[in-house]
Amino acid sequence: MPSIHEHAQALADRTVALRRDLHQHPEIAFEEVRTAGVIAERLRALGLEPRTGVGKTGVVAVWDSGRPGPTVLARADIDALPVPEEKDVPYRSQRDGWMHACGHDGHTAVLLSVAELLIGRGEELRGRVAFVFQPAEEIVRGAEAMLADGALDGIDADHAIGLHLSSMHPLGVVAVREGPSMAATDSFRLTVHGRGGHAAKPNETVDPIVVASHLVLALQALVSRETDPVDQAVVSITSVHGGTAFNIIPEAVELKGTLRTFDAETRARLRRRIHDVAEGIATTFRATVTPDWTEGSPAVVNDAAATARLRAVAERVVGPDRVVTNAQMMGGDDMALWLQRAPGCYFFVGARGGEASAWPHHHPRFDLDEAALPIAVEVLAEGIVDLLTA
Ligand code: NI
Repeated sequence: MPSIHEHAQALADRTVALRRDLHQHPEIAFEEVRTAGVIAERLRALGLEPRTGVGKTGVVAVWDSGRPGPTVLARADIDALPVPEEKDVPYRSQRDGWMHACGHDGHTAVLLSVAELLIGRGEELRGRVAFVFQPAEEIVRGAEAMLADGALDGIDADHAIGLHLSSMHPLGVVAVREGPSMAATDSFRLTVHGRGGHAAKPNETVDPIVVASHLVLALQALVSRETDPVDQAVVSITSVHGGTAFNIIPEAVELKGTLRTFDAETRARLRRRIHDVAEGIATTFRATVTPDWTEGSPAVVNDAAATARLRAVAERVVGPDRVVTNAQMMGGDDMALWLQRAPGCYFFVGARGGEASAWPHHHPRFDLDEAALPIAVEVLAEGIVDLLTA
């Protein structure tokens, strides 16, 4: 039997080819029909019986060694973004306006190769692995949809594991952090209702533009003046819409924004305070406000023991000097929900090899250094084997 390293290298061409195929055919949140078909076909070829259409376009397949042992949930996200690709590569997106600009094509290919690798070494393993291919990570709705649709029915997972390829980290570096690692992401809309009228007679109106302006500034105090500086949080107003002409005071202004937090209590408090401040400011200036809150994903929290184990595995695979403690990230990921079902670890594998792979995630020129793919396969496979043999 070849080593896992040799096995991952032997699968490298297949992993890259699959990633390129997916890259050419990106599908955005909940539209991953072709993608799910490719995944299911590969899993069937491995002798598994995938459940498809889980949470609309998710796929779940359980491999059972037939020997007692723990159950490991391994998750990959599969969706692309509504970003028009600007790279000129042979595997360029064939879909106008859509692109795998975050590397989820790589995650899908990596997890399929991990499945192939583990099943190929099934004789030396015990326990079960639940392979979860999740749609709609980019709108943080896919995990929720899959769980609501019974993705884990009959699967009592002991551990959860997953990875994100990263153009923010050098090729082959594994970055991981214990505890709260990625932020909870909530979004909100605040509609300020005034009374419209002629711009030359503001006294006969309630100007929602002035009220919204006060509100945007007042909300900035919630983090700067009310939140412990060592507890990270962000309140951003990202959209302001109101008015049509230079001489009309509009009826209403709509603000949109996002709240990012790590601590559950801080999250609840800031949500409450955003509502309080909005109402207070509106009342002060004779307006009213309608808040509309959309709860996103909770924070990604890595289990301490699982993180220590993954770190040890990664140090063996890529070398101790190439395993780093990741900074906390204000971006979110609904891997958080799988980690709430089973303690585990979500980690990053560096895929920045040169200039072509140095663009930020979600950029029209984003790309992966594909040499990261077999490394990711190896680290993830070793991580799962480690959990199975615990
Ligand atoms: Ni992503």
